[in-house]
Amino acid sequence: MSRLDTFINRMSAQRDILNHVARDLGLPAQGDVLEVGLGNGRTYSHLRELFPERRVIAFDRAMNAHRTTAPHEDDFVTGEINKTGQEFAGTGAALVHADIGTGYPDKDAITLSWLPQMVAAMLQPGGYAVSGLPLEHSQLDALPRLPSVNEGRYFMYRRL
Ligand SMILES: C[S@@+](CC[C@H](N)C(=O)[O-])C[C@H]1O[C@@H](n2cnc3c(N)ncnc32)[C@H](O)[C@@H]1O
Repeated sequence: MSRLDTFINRMSAQRDILNHVARDLGLPAQGDVLEVGLGNGRTYSHLRELFPERRVIAFDRAMNAHRTTAPHEDDFVTGEINKTGQEFAGTGAALVHADIGTGYPDKDAITLSWLPQMVAAMLQPGGYAVSGLPLEHSQLDALPRLPSVNEGRYFMYRRL
């Protein structure tokens, strides 16, 4: 599969799962949405549309979002997420979306040494995690794959 097809698959899986959480599952009544890996801000803008009543807080090592949809400075956390994200442990997020995979197994293995624990700690019970990397953690219950999402492409969990 070409890298273009891989990218399109990842994006459509991401969008389908986030739409499913918003429209079919529904977030817990309270709690912020955390966007782990702001990048260009395309997903941030989608999250703002899906969850207009929620505060959406984005994390990245640098601000590179398109200025038409960039978060307010109060809603952007700059730095290495394995450090900055720890400050959001116990804050009871309703949804954490993490799109910080690189496609390099060695680099992703390092990310996976801290990401599952951090995401579980950020979420309230009943909150959702949506991730491009698999999050193996005893408090994260893997939800069934959507028919439109290829095996191993994108993952969805509910915090126990
Ligand atoms: C694939 S992009 C995210 C794309 C985003 N969903 C969008 O709509 O543009 C991943 C982003 O996460 C950031 N990132 C990855 N690992 C990080 C880390 N450990 N700490 C801080 N930022 C990180 C990168 O700088 C990059 O901007």
